[in-house]
Amino acid sequence: MLTYDTANATGTGEWKEAYAKAQEFVAKLTIDEKADMVTGQPGPCVGNIVAIPRLGFPGLCLQDGPLAIRVADYASVFAAGVTVASTWDRDLLYERGYAMGQEFKAKGAHVALSPVAGPLGRSAYAGRNWEGFAADPYLTGVAMEKTIRGHQDAGVQATPKHFIGNEQETQRNPTYNPNGTLTDVIQEALSSNIDDRTMHELYLWPFANAVRAQAASFMCAYQRLNGSYACENSKALNGLLKEELGFQGYVMSDWGGTHSGVSSIEGGLDMNMPGGLGAYGKTPGVGSFFGKNVTYAVNNGTVDESRVDDMIIRIMTPYYWLGQDEDYPEVDPSSADLNTFSPRSTWIREFNLTGERSRDVRGDHAELIRKLAAEATVLLKNEKQALPLKAPKNIAIFGNDAGENTMGAVNEATFEFGNLAAGGGSGTGRFTYLVSPLEAIKTRAKEDDALVQYFLNNTQIATNNVTDLWVPATPDACLVFLKTWAEEGADREHLTVDYNGNEVVESVAKSCNNTIVITHSSGINVLPWANHPNVTAILAAHYPGQEAGNSIVDVLYGDVNPAGHLPYTIAKNATDYNAPPTTELSTDGTHDWQSWFDEKLEIDYRYFDAKNISVQYEFGFGLSYTTFSISDINAEQVAESIPSIPEDQPIQPGGNPALWETIYNVTVAVTNSGDVKGATVPQLYVTFPDSTPEGTPPKQLRGFEKVSLAPGESRTVGFELMRRDLSYWDIVSQKWLVPEGEFVLSVGFSSRDLKEVAKITPVSV
Ligand code: BGC
Repeated sequence: MLTYDTANATGTGEWKEAYAKAQEFVAKLTIDEKADMVTGQPGPCVGNIVAIPRLGFPGLCLQDGPLAIRVADYASVFAAGVTVASTWDRDLLYERGYAMGQEFKAKGAHVALSPVAGPLGRSAYAGRNWEGFAADPYLTGVAMEKTIRGHQDAGVQATPKHFIGNEQETQRNPTYNPNGTLTDVIQEALSSNIDDRTMHELYLWPFANAVRAQAASFMCAYQRLNGSYACENSKALNGLLKEELGFQGYVMSDWGGTHSGVSSIEGGLDMNMPGGLGAYGKTPGVGSFFGKNVTYAVNNGTVDESRVDDMIIRIMTPYYWLGQDEDYPEVDPSSADLNTFSPRSTWIREFNLTGERSRDVRGDHAELIRKLAAEATVLLKNEKQALPLKAPKNIAIFGNDAGENTMGAVNEATFEFGNLAAGGGSGTGRFTYLVSPLEAIKTRAKEDDALVQYFLNNTQIATNNVTDLWVPATPDACLVFLKTWAEEGADREHLTVDYNGNEVVESVAKSCNNTIVITHSSGINVLPWANHPNVTAILAAHYPGQEAGNSIVDVLYGDVNPAGHLPYTIAKNATDYNAPPTTELSTDGTHDWQSWFDEKLEIDYRYFDAKNISVQYEFGFGLSYTTFSISDINAEQVAESIPSIPEDQPIQPGGNPALWETIYNVTVAVTNSGDVKGATVPQLYVTFPDSTPEGTPPKQLRGFEKVSLAPGESRTVGFELMRRDLSYWDIVSQKWLVPEGEFVLSVGFSSRDLKEVAKITPVSV
């Protein structure tokens, strides 16, 4: 579908009643009120839709972001997306989504700008990978679904973002003429050029889960997609999202990501954020293609009023469906004070903030946050029984990541000292407090009357002989804390840890034969010292949120047995990664920023497998303090008949329901073969038959299940394979097809540690 063919909401399924209420609501609006409903305004929240008091509508408050309600005091900072993805734990993903949703609601935010499936993780360097989950569509899809259901069960609207192809930060927005107007562009934003099959099997996949989970709204991305801006791309918004996936909610633009009026409206955009004055006024910086322009466009017949009505029905249906019209908390006035994006001086319209100020919305979430981050910690190496610690008497702590943040509640790239528990940009959180590793270790070490010495200056550690630093002898354990910053608006320049971290490890490991390295990182780091004989253990803790210190102490001392698994691949060398961001051009044409997704389906492990490249730690890898075994695989066809072409059922949110039907059940027995309690994550990878079109990755994740087992205990774990799991996207018929022939199903503890294999050939009768 390439023409402007707008797809109206139909109010199917669970949303029927709410849809009828939204229709009634829109029938009462004047055309100027309609323009207000689809256009943001500067106000107390990061995004604001103004109230219509005569109809009892209080307006909408939209707040970031994917790990916390950001512009708020007395709120929690949860673990980041990449961290929780490392748990591979469906229940924890849901619990986090729910707890976050509670905080957004209690602060009066109707809409949470969360979660993230774009970027998916095409490039190891992308600045925002950590806001999302995993470099794999299946794991990300599950994480999206659980998070969205959590948010919305708590009463707040979820906003999966950034739709779609937002795989790098560099040139995500156009370069404007600094002396010109809003439309005076020197160079357009980057265009992510993605073929149809790759779009469906990789980038669209987790967003399909999001629609199926009944997400209220979608945020379209900044950059262009196949040549057109994502927020006016009719193929993406009307075609893929609203028609193919049956999305019934609304699409909002990313902040400043609207580049046209009529074209965007016809292209499928339903709400312009942050909006601003439109033709109401001419204040620089707050211009909008919507606002009064919508009124003009309807009045002069350029836009059909029924399209504007559809935009508002889409906005109001989830509002009613979630019961936000009944007793919803008012916006906390403190949000307005903290809002640097639209401070009070920029407000044009009136906002009546009568709610209680600075309400504490944290509840008992600290406990969950501590547990989440501990369960998410990935044990990459553990030799000579380095971990768990056994009541060490002499502990040395190294690294600028271990101690207190010396500069405030929100991290910044330039903060040399302090524990890094969240990344930067709109996806960060404002810490009410942060428990640093140093603080938590000191507290815990008191139980053993241990000596705790700490050295927090990386330059000094790297350039000194550490034996001159510590007393009286080599410490029992040398804990090295390293950090790696990433933020919105910039891609990473390298994949190593920051602040000479590699030299810090080398310097410590030269003299300490029990060097234990802990990384707080946005994601992929190459670890050149991973095989150093004195580096006995490595833990990847990612961005753990406010309980960082407590979570890592729980793992170090064995109160929590680590069960995290990598949601991406750690290669041996940075140069081993493919698909780097497009960072510079040798030409200066207006449309020259192009990023060709030529690797197609081969991102992360799909690429390393296809090219047979050996890696340091593969996708899905993670150790435990115990050991596990897998046996007795069994695969059973549960659908009576599996024809190649799915039955054409009426579209529901998520697309053709036939794609979500379970067609195979696979089971394995998992046993804890060690002597402590622990959890592991058996993973199922599918190898498609030879008849599948060229370019199909050697294996793809299609199932996982976390299981906790006592020593010696054995349990049967099941994986339900849906039709989509065993299909490829056929670009000719424009359908998901099950290819003919034999599939190989492999189950193991990582993408390269596969223990059991079953071969299946779907039968069609
Ligand atoms: C980001 C979005 C965010 C919005 C509002 C944009 O720059 O890309 O993710 O929700 O700002 O802060």
